[in-house]
Amino acid sequence: MTVWPYPRIVAHRGGGSLAPENTLAAIDVGAQYGHKMIEFDAKLAQDGEIFLLHDDTLDRTSNGWGVAGDLSWQQLVKLDAGSWYGSAFSGEKLPLLAQVAARCAQHNMLVNIEIKPTTGLDEKTGTEVALAARALWKDQAVAPLLSSFEFDALVAAKKAAPELPRGLLIDEWHPDWQALTDELQCVSLHLNHKLLNAERVKAIKDAGLHILVYTVNSPDRARELMGWGVDCICTDRIDLIGPDFV
Ligand code: G3P
Ligand code: MG
Repeated sequence: MTVWPYPRIVAHRGGGSLAPENTLAAIDVGAQYGHKMIEFDAKLAQDGEIFLLHDDTLDRTSNGWGVAGDLSWQQLVKLDAGSWYGSAFSGEKLPLLAQVAARCAQHNMLVNIEIKPTTGLDEKTGTEVALAARALWKDQAVAPLLSSFEFDALVAAKKAAPELPRGLLIDEWHPDWQALTDELQCVSLHLNHKLLNAERVKAIKDAGLHILVYTVNSPDRARELMGWGVDCICTDRIDLIGPDFV
């Protein structure tokens, strides 16, 4: 089993459901609740800048529209990524990965960078995010944990920055999870918690992998998963499932 420096609880998209996802404000809210680690989604702007956004398109979480990856950073930076959530966050910007790295360093927070490529850009996004993560976190004691649903993005990340830890994300059960994680030399498997039972947790742990589950918003369910041996709970309820949750 490899060394696992990450805490038990991870704030999903920075501040879970308490702030506009994938923004600096969300990271601040995660920190206010005492969280020691956050997860967020990173992708490429048209000009190669790396920024945070979950969806392919801008429509749900900003005042922009259309495919985000078709716009340059100069265009993206003009958008409001806070008002959709609430007027208290109006004017909040989409953040660059570099800004996120600096903010997390200020808060002493560890990170799980989910590589979330715009459709068709898996390999390029994997390469660019891994290289940027290496550079931006080079002075930090604990490396960012990279993850992706996209196998090819993780292949590219492994090639670009093999020393950065990787976790494969799955939202449906893959009977060949062990072959996939072996090929990627993953340290962890990241799963929708609904895929798990005690037997599967044991099999994954016996294979030498750590387990991160998303998105767990019930404290009882979090306790059950931790009882089975799950290492990390990624939650939107950063208030109910706090950093010291047991
Ligand atoms: O990385 C865990 C989780 O964020 C994966 O799903 O869709 O919320 O990015 P999603
Ligand atoms: Mg994510």
